Amino acid sequence: MRSDPMRSTALDLTSPELVADPYPALAEERARGPLAWHEQSGTFLTFDHATVSAVLRDRRLGRIWKDREPAAYLEPFNLLHRHQMMENEPPEHTRLRRLVASAFNRGHVERLRPRVRELAAQLLAEVDPAGFDVIGEYAEPLPVLVIAELLGVPTELAPELRAWSQAIVRMYEVSPSDAVVEAAVGAAADFAAVVRELARERAAEPRDDLVSDLVRASTLRPAGGDGTERTERLSEEEVVASAVLLLNAGHEASVNVFGNGLVAMLRAGVSPREDQLATCVEEMLRYDSALQLFERTATRPVQVAGVELEPGQKVAALLGAANRDPAVFEDADRFRVDRDPNLHVAFGAGVHFCLGAPLARMEIVESLGHLLRTLPDLSLAAEPEPRGTFVLRGYRTVAVSGTPVA
Ligand code: HEM
Repeated sequence: MRSDPMRSTALDLTSPELVADPYPALAEERARGPLAWHEQSGTFLTFDHATVSAVLRDRRLGRIWKDREPAAYLEPFNLLHRHQMMENEPPEHTRLRRLVASAFNRGHVERLRPRVRELAAQLLAEVDPAGFDVIGEYAEPLPVLVIAELLGVPTELAPELRAWSQAIVRMYEVSPSDAVVEAAVGAAADFAAVVRELARERAAEPRDDLVSDLVRASTLRPAGGDGTERTERLSEEEVVASAVLLLNAGHEASVNVFGNGLVAMLRAGVSPREDQLATCVEEMLRYDSALQLFERTATRPVQVAGVELEPGQKVAALLGAANRDPAVFEDADRFRVDRDPNLHVAFGAGVHFCLGAPLARMEIVESLGHLLRTLPDLSLAAEPEPRGTFVLRGYRTVAVSGTPVA
């Protein structure tokens, strides 16, 4: 038992200093104890690898979508969250996840590898190697195009898709402003309308894409069928919410993992050999986590790091803090291209463990490999411009330059 399990913290998760480099403050918190009450967000925060992993795995701590406010003007935003796997717990979660899980298994992802290579080559062929933004011109379009193709969304919509996603995810930050809420609701409504239209088209004329699969699941619904059959169907809201989840989750984090990891690597002055690409990508995931905070709500009484949580009480897992825990990672503040084992929690843990992890890993290995083979002397051309948010940590632009190999 710790002497003061009920300590509190005044950590300001919105302050520019903390957002610029959260790791010293997170290390201090971790040293003071695994859990602290955080008045700013009305949640307990957890800082170390063991407690963060336990929070993510404990079935008494759930992700249950509670409408932020059941207000009518928020409905477009709430609609996209209420009906998808990430915001539900079993048995709903199991049903929603099972329908798309097979599309993201390793075998299926392997078949996409040649296409990812082709896209990486096309994108890099278009940049000016003497100076380009590796986020806007490479790291961002690649996963957007891959997930759009997979779902069957026309790739001309890629820029809008990216803009909608960015507006929606700003709602996940601590204390979003009214302007952020308004933009998120507008984006959610526009995004849902486009996906709903697409789902209706695929229902009429199925193709070989994920939206058709989701729709097929929804139309397999036998009128008055038995319980088993009914569990496989998706309502139109579920199809739309699932497709939007996949489109957003399918690129948002990948962009920032690539950007954060590349900047860390270039600053550390290290570069992976070809046979170190896989371990280097794991280190990119760990070292400067693109997703810093995930929240859970107690659905039953539960003890976390010696503190009793009542149902309804919220607790947040700080993934970036856990990923720098010296109890698990030797030399935790150093970026090492060959770190192995690397037990980071960048993809979460437990039932919500990232569905897209095999796809994300493959995309980053391929795009990083192609970039470093083409421009082996790649370097930062200017100070990278951060997004300035804590929960989704990343760079808006990263200017780089390099000399193409002859
Ligand atoms: C490197 C990039 C990525 C990172 C760091 C990442 C991280 C995560 C994390 C931490 C979670 C768990 C959230 C929680 O426990 O509350 C998650 C869930 C999820 N991710 Fe990813 N993700 C990435 C890429 C992708 C991609 C490419 C897809 C493509 C489909 C994807 C789809 C999902 C889905 C659907 C869930 C929800 C799973 C569930 O609730 O069962 N992610 N991701």
